[in-house]
This record gives sequence, C-alpha cells and structure tokens, in this order.
Amino acid sequence: MRILLVLVISLVLGSCSSQVKESKIEQQRNSSGATSTVKKRVKPEFNGQYYFVQGEDGPVIVVNKKYPLSADFAPGEDPIAGVAFEDLIKDMESKGFQVSHDYSGYRSYGQQKTLYEAYVARDGQEAADRYSARPGYSEHQTGLTFDVKDVSGQLLEEKEASQWLLDHAAEYGFVVRYPKGKEEVTGYMPESWHLRYIGREAQQISSKGLTLEEYYGFEGGDYADERIFEKEK
Ligand code: DAL
Ligand code: ZN
Repeated sequence: MRILLVLVISLVLGSCSSQVKESKIEQQRNSSGATSTVKKRVKPEFNGQYYFVQGEDGPVIVVNKKYPLSADFAPGEDPIAGVAFEDLIKDMESKGFQVSHDYSGYRSYGQQKTLYEAYVARDGQEAADRYSARPGYSEHQTGLTFDVKDVSGQLLEEKEASQWLLDHAAEYGFVVRYPKGKEEVTGYMPESWHLRYIGREAQQISSKGLTLEEYYGFEGGDYADERIFEKEK
C-alpha cells in the first residue's frame, strides 16, 4: 500500500515538473546541424469549466481562441485581482495619469455574447474577431481581467500611460495580454488597456517580454474551428 502511494505521488510530481520543463525555450539542432530556438508545446488540462496550466504558484487559467471556457463558468470578479487593480489605478493617479476608477471587468458568457454580436452587426465578423472574443472565449469571463479606462470613459490608449502599464502592471500581478506585434500569437489586435491578473509570476512573464502563450508554451492564434459563429436562434 505504502509503495503504491509513493508511486502515485512520484507520478503526480513527475508530471508537474515535466510540464514546467516543457514550457522552457530549448535549443535544438536541426538536420543541417544549425541550432534554432524552439518552444515545446504544453497542452492545458480541462477541469470541466476551464483549461489551465501549472504556473509557479498554482494553476493558471488559459483562455484564447483555442481554449474556451464553459458557458456556465460564472465566477464573478476575482476579489484579489480586484484589489490589485484598484491599487494599480491609485498608483497611476498618483503619477499624474488621467485614469478612471470605472473599468470594464467581469463579463458573463451572456454579456459577452450580446457584445460580440453587436460588434459583428456593426463591423462584420472578420473584423470583429480581431478585437472581440466570441462568447465563451473572453478572458473577461474569468473575473481576472480588467480594461483600464481614461477619465473620459474611453479605453486607455494614451502613449505614456500605456507604456507605464507595460513597465509596471506586473508589480501588481498583471500582464498586458495583447501587446503590439503579437496578433498571430494571441489572436487579437493590440489592446494597451486589457490587463490579465496572474499574480507574482507576472513579473517574470513581463520582464521576458513574452505573451502567456509564449511563456507557458500553449497554443494560440486563430479559432480551431473556422466555421462562422452562428447566432443561437
Ligand atoms: N477584447 C477582448 C479580446 C475580449 O473580447 O475579451
Ligand atoms: Zn478587455
């Protein structure tokens, strides 16, 4: 019995550490002998509500165009992330940035559906898919994501404030989730205002200048299913 228990524990620990190892960028030699930097893929696990990978401090929820959330996953705003976001806004204000305490945070599956369908009606699906997530595919549904707004109520785009977020959001546990030049990786146009709470590990992710896809090694890019999203009647 004891041997069986030890075996089970070591199998569990072994699988965790191999996942962490797999997410590291490794040098590989190709057939012609040249070395190239490749990233091994990590496959997120699904727990019935969301996909996740193992971060340094615990599970990290994965949401992108390849990894949706279940429609009934409705956690509301994460209280720890909410406090961290409020602290970040106060810090920005103290530095003179014109940011608002009003923000766009948690959205349920149904709210995202309404929003996405309105964008599709306005701009067409191809354009909408570049900036708005289909229902079940938005990080806002996790309660861990916050869009910073300026004092006029617009999503924050001002250059210096956006740069401050890139440089300092990680001190509050956030990453700028959709940075410039990474549309093919994240699946979305740059959004200087969209912050995703990760916690302590955000500092490493941010200092390496990597997206979550690149840092943890999970797949990103476009929807796996290219079928046109169909409105439920
Ligand atoms: N604007 C982001 C991609 C969302 O809709 O969640
Ligand atoms: Zn957002």
